[in-house]
Order: sequence, then structure tokens, then C-alpha cells
Amino acid sequence: TRVALAFSGGLDTTVCVPLLEEEYGYDEVIGVTVDVGQPEEEFAEAEETAEALDLEHYVVDAKAEFAELCLDSVRANATYQGYPLGTALARPVIAEKILDVALEHDCAAVAHGCTGKGNDQLRFEAVWRASDLEVIAPVRELGLTREWEIEYADEKDLPVEGGNEGAWSIDTNLWSRSVEGDDLEDPTYVPPEDIYEWTETPGADEELVEIEFEDGYPVALNGDELDAVSLIQELNELAGAHGVGRTDMMEDRMLGLKVRENYEHPAATVLLTAHEGLEQLVFTKSERDFKTTADEEWAQQGYKGLVDTPLMASLEGFLDASQSKVTGTVTVKLQGGQARPVARDSAYGVYSESAASFNTETVDGIEQADATGVAKYHGFQERLANEVLANAKKS
Ligand code: ARG
Ligand code: SIN
Repeated sequence: TRVALAFSGGLDTTVCVPLLEEEYGYDEVIGVTVDVGQPEEEFAEAEETAEALDLEHYVVDAKAEFAELCLDSVRANATYQGYPLGTALARPVIAEKILDVALEHDCAAVAHGCTGKGNDQLRFEAVWRASDLEVIAPVRELGLTREWEIEYADEKDLPVEGGNEGAWSIDTNLWSRSVEGDDLEDPTYVPPEDIYEWTETPGADEELVEIEFEDGYPVALNGDELDAVSLIQELNELAGAHGVGRTDMMEDRMLGLKVRENYEHPAATVLLTAHEGLEQLVFTKSERDFKTTADEEWAQQGYKGLVDTPLMASLEGFLDASQSKVTGTVTVKLQGGQARPVARDSAYGVYSESAASFNTETVDGIEQADATGVAKYHGFQERLANEVLANAKKS
């Protein structure tokens, strides 16, 4: 019988190959690497490792699909505890592709190399458990540690090279790069610059980029219309050069564990910042206020890897409606690790320069003096409450 394994060529998934045979009795393991925009070297590593393991190996391109989901997350201003969702959004896309390959090749089971402490196990399995296939999680079920894995790989002469990968657990996709584990597990440890690969050490240079949005989706960069994948890739380069999009944080995982995480996400930071900048212009205050609630819900579901659910479908309906006027351009200044909107323009702006200006006297026939009554009432209830409280204490 055969099992399809989510395979990256990294330490965890490499040790899973012999373990699925030895410990679980499968006589054929199929490795599936899903392309969600990892750097070229990772595919070369996966390919080489697969060859050395004599593993039947498939690479499935899901870049375009994943990029669409990333841009959906921009419409929802999606961040979790302050950082753009990356790994979380990639997992359901990867899980679907692996399931397709498993079914195509008559596999009885699907397997992943995630630990029993993390989020990724939950995100993969939320998709897989909708099928009839058996779900196997060797690292979790056999209680493996990375130290044990390194020793086992050494004993078995498994092909696990690749620089720091033995110590850090790195997960990269189009939208973000995550580095965790080893000395980073100590919250007092200041990471060296070389954990960062996408972002330069922030300097003084500045650069303006113009993002054009249509219905809440970014469609052009500096006047060039680009598909989702190219737009994200180009912006990662542009913004990464200014050190934009670094996160060093303590994160609360789904199981309740608090962990130290480091992320890089240059394009995501710019697009999220620009998108919010445009919403500030085209939304009424109540639309802005309400949308933060919907956005937070989208992000929570996204973090859990639950992107294909009834609630998400409803939220998409709300996004479609609200984003129909999030059309226009935003200019973002990249400098010293920061991305800041410095200009925005839209035909849907809920803004009247003459109304807001210090230099005009009336708005639609309303004069400055008409605000006097409002000013008299403003804070009335609070003043009364304070007075009542003061008197009651006295007596
Ligand atoms: N903690 C982050 C998340 O849940 C990143 C996990 C990255 N996975 C990894 N194997 N490095 O989204
Ligand atoms: C893992 O536990 O396999 C990686 C981290 C995570 O899933 O959150």
C-alpha cells in the first residue's frame, strides 16, 4: 500500500520517509512538494533529497492559487497578532494538492511531518480528514524531537544538509518566510542579522512605490499591471531592499503554547498598509469600524487554516460588497524598514477638501457657529456622572 507524504526535503519530512516504511509498514511512499513560491533552491533540495532516498516525487505548482488567497487576505487586512498570515494560508492550499495526488495514485494514507505542538498539523488535517484516507503524523505519533531526528538521519545516512535547516525550522512561501526553533526559542536571545534573507538591514535610502487597487485587489505596481504572483514577487524585492517587513514576536498558537517567531514579509506589509490607507479614504467611519470586526474574524479563521467554511463564504460576501469601492491608487514610502502611505487617490473618496479645510467658512450651508450647540452637549453625561459621584462621596 502507498502513502503520500507532504515533502519539503527538510529534516522533518526526510526522516518521515523511512519511518513510514519501518514503523507504519507502507511499502511505497510518494513525496509531494507543493510550489507556493518557495525559492528555487528548496526545489533543488527536495529533488536531490528525493533522489537520494529513492523516493517517487511530485512537484505541484499552486503559486497562482496561493497568490489569489494572499490577495484575498489583503482585502480583509488580515493579520494575526500583528503579522501577515503566511504559513497559515499556505497550508490548506498545500493540503488540497497533496490530497489530489494521493487520490490520483491510489494512496491509502496521507502524511505530514508537523509536530504535535504546532498549528500546521491542525491546518493540514482539517482538509485531509474530509477524505476517507488515513492521516499519519509520524513526528507527533512517535514523539520525535529535532535532536532525535538529526541523530537518526546521521545513523541512517539520510541526506540532510542545507546549512542551518538542521537547527532552525524555516517555512517559506510567496507571502512570508518564518524562522523558528533552536536558539530563537529563548525570548531573551537577540537574533543575528543572518536569520533574515528577504530583508536588508534597514538603511537611510528611500523609495516611493505606487500600488493601484481595483475592488480591493492590488492590480498594478508603479503603473505596470501584473498578475498576482509577479506583483508579490516584485514587491518583495523592492520593499525587502529597504528592510521592510520584519517581525520578531511572541505568538500564541492554537493549542495555547506561546512561542518565539521571526518573520519576513515585505510585499505583504506594503500591500496591507496601502490597502488600509485606501479604505481610510473611501469608507465612512461606521464602515471602517464595522469592517475591523469582520477582518478580525477572517484573520482568526485564516490562522486556523479554515479558509473553506460557511463563515468564510459569508465574510467573502461582505468583502465583495464593501470592496467594490476600494479602487484607486496609494503611494507608499519605503524607508528604514518602514512602509508608510504618503498619498492616496480614489474616485470614491468620502472626502471634501472644502468641507474639511481650515480656510473655508461654511459646509453645505452649515456655519462654524452651528457647532456651538454640539460643543455644549459634548461630554454632558460624563460631567453629570462625575458631579453625582463627587456629591455622593461627600454625603
Ligand atoms: N507559527 C507560524 C504559524 O503558525 C509559523 C509556522 C511555520 N512553520 C514552520 N514549520 N516553520 O503560522
Ligand atoms: C510544527 O510544529 O511542525 C511547526 C510549527 C507549527 O506548526 O506551528
